[in-house]
Amino acid sequence: MARVYLSPPHIAGREAELVAEAIESNWIAPLGPHVDAFEAEVAEVAGVENAVALSSGTAALHLALVVLGIGGGDEVACSSFTFSASANPIVYAGATPVFVDADAATWTMDPALLERALAERPAIRAAIAVDLYGQCCDYDSIRALCAERRVTLIQDSTESLGALYGDEPSGGQGDLAAFSFNGNKLITTSGGGMLVSRNAEWIEHARKLSTQAREIAPHYEHTEIGFNYRLSNLLAAVGRAQLAVLADRVAARRRINRRYRELLAGAPGISFMPEAGYGESNCWLTCITVDPAEAGTDRERIRLALETEDIESRPLWKPMHLQPVFAGAPAYGGEMSARLFERGLCLPSGSALTGADQRRVVDVLLATRD
Ligand SMILES: Cc1ncc(COP(=O)(O)O)c(C=O)c1O
Repeated sequence: MARVYLSPPHIAGREAELVAEAIESNWIAPLGPHVDAFEAEVAEVAGVENAVALSSGTAALHLALVVLGIGGGDEVACSSFTFSASANPIVYAGATPVFVDADAATWTMDPALLERALAERPAIRAAIAVDLYGQCCDYDSIRALCAERRVTLIQDSTESLGALYGDEPSGGQGDLAAFSFNGNKLITTSGGGMLVSRNAEWIEHARKLSTQAREIAPHYEHTEIGFNYRLSNLLAAVGRAQLAVLADRVAARRRINRRYRELLAGAPGISFMPEAGYGESNCWLTCITVDPAEAGTDRERIRLALETEDIESRPLWKPMHLQPVFAGAPAYGGEMSARLFERGLCLPSGSALTGADQRRVVDVLLATRD
């Protein structure tokens, strides 16, 4: 039986055709018509006007901080319950991360803790709120807190393309938002990202910075430090084919999530990531928590049993305030994400996962019980 992966790429169908077209037209230099079209298409899907295609979501978050002029002496509030790539760019920029715990209702940034951090730390100039596992943050609350303190809101929507906040698509809630097209996301360019915003000036500045900050001149003239962060036209061709089926991919992931809930409905001690009432998650990964006292099994027993059956699963993110590399960084709260890390598991959630494989995942999981 083939290995079941957590979230493998899912080919849409037209990737090879669009890449071949790019090669035939000789647009294999970094920029080109597929990059321009991909930017316009992603901006439309995110409900914003401006977008710049980049080499990764990490690069998008980094450039967001650079265009805001964040640097030494500044602090940036950041969700603690996330992947390290949300926080690393704060350090690249020379600023200090201030970690904010998740709340129980959504597993995303707790607005009450953000409020405390903002009240106590005047050095905070921006906040990176992470749309976790495909679910948007509580932006009505977070946006109001940031506006009150004139703190710029950066939305880490790398996991939430295609999700909804109210009836708005994910990506328009922050002042700037980052997407990722890494191989494990709903759609992929094999590696890539995008920075989007309603603010055209920021995006044009990011575009310039991403191509080595070249000034308009016949020779290479530079007045600021640049980066080599652009997405290639070949990868944008893959992205366009993938983006065309985004709605199907969201529907498939949500269906898989619903089915896990049905199959595990009677199992005591197993709970699912709550879906916030204010939006609709893209269900990038289906996440459970296991209470050992009630479940008669635990997270690690389940993970190892799945691995023995060649099924990939993964503990929930280890929060940033517990990561050795961020030891000493200020943190607000922390118990919630620590408990989620201890008890939580991401189940195979790829949009091509078959019903039979999903059944197998559940059978292996249930068989670990005493
Ligand atoms: C929450 C989060 N932030 C940032 C990133 C970085 O994106 P990329 O891998 O495209 O650099 C990822 C994904 O990898 C992510 O899951």
